[in-house]
Order: sequence, then C-alpha cells, then structure tokens
Amino acid sequence: MASILVLNGPNLGRLGSREPEIYGSMNYEQLASELLAFAEKHGHKADVRQTDSESELIGWLHEAVDAKRPVIINPAAFTHYSYALADAASLVTKAGLKLIEVHISNPHAREEFRHKSVISAVATGVIAGFGTDSYKLAIQAI
Ligand code: DQA
Repeated sequence: MASILVLNGPNLGRLGSREPEIYGSMNYEQLASELLAFAEKHGHKADVRQTDSESELIGWLHEAVDAKRPVIINPAAFTHYSYALADAASLVTKAGLKLIEVHISNPHAREEFRHKSVISAVATGVIAGFGTDSYKLAIQAI
C-alpha cells in the first residue's frame, strides 16, 4: 500500500469552469474524490491537494521526501519555468521515490511555451493528454 501525494498547481482549482474544451467539465472537488476512490480500489491511499503557490508546492515535495511518499504532480504552468520546483522534484526522485508528472491536456499539441517542461528531466515518468484519466494512469503506474 502506497500513500500517494497527488499535487496540483496553479489554476487547477478552477477545473470545470476553466477552458472546459481543453480541461473537461469535471470540477476539482469531483476529480479529488474520484482519485481517492480509484486509489483505494487499487489498494493505495491518496492525498489530493491543490495550491496556486509555488512555495507551498515546494514544501509539499519536501514533505514527500521526509515521509517517503511517492508523488503524482500536475505542476500546471510551473511546469514550463519553475527551476525551484524542478530542484524540489529532483529531491524526491533522488531519494528513490517515484514522481510522476501528469497533464490533463497534451502540452506538446498546444502553444509553443507549453512544449518545454523543466520538470520532466527529473521525473520518473510523464503522462499527458488523457484528460483527467492521466491521473488514474499515474496511480496505476505507482
Ligand atoms: C496543464 C498544462 C499546462 O500547460 C497548463 O499551464 C495547466 C494545466 C495540464 O494539465 O494540461 O495549467 O498542466
């Protein structure tokens, strides 16, 4: 049984109303409760969190290292430029813990600035483009 931290970055709390043609119609609360149930079905515990703050996200990655918990993270826009978040993500994988980067959309099929991820190089793996099922695929990977 893994106790998984499922971390979500900025603007993901607005799922459902934010660009539903890209991110779908499920709101954040529905997503969180679906993921809890899905993790439980697979014998895991999930702790699903969202923040708009880079600092809080980094603190949660430090917490994952200290508590030895695997991480699923949708870093949202921080994906594309936050070296501070990349350094914190690297601490997780260097500690021998899985860190899976997920995206609801396929950033490579979108604007050019979304094509670069500063997180992918330090992640265990990346799952993108499967809508909110990207998170479920990541739970299965763990
Ligand atoms: C996203 C893709 C990012 O480019 C964007 O900034 C997000 C969401 C996704 O899940 O598809 O906020 O991470």
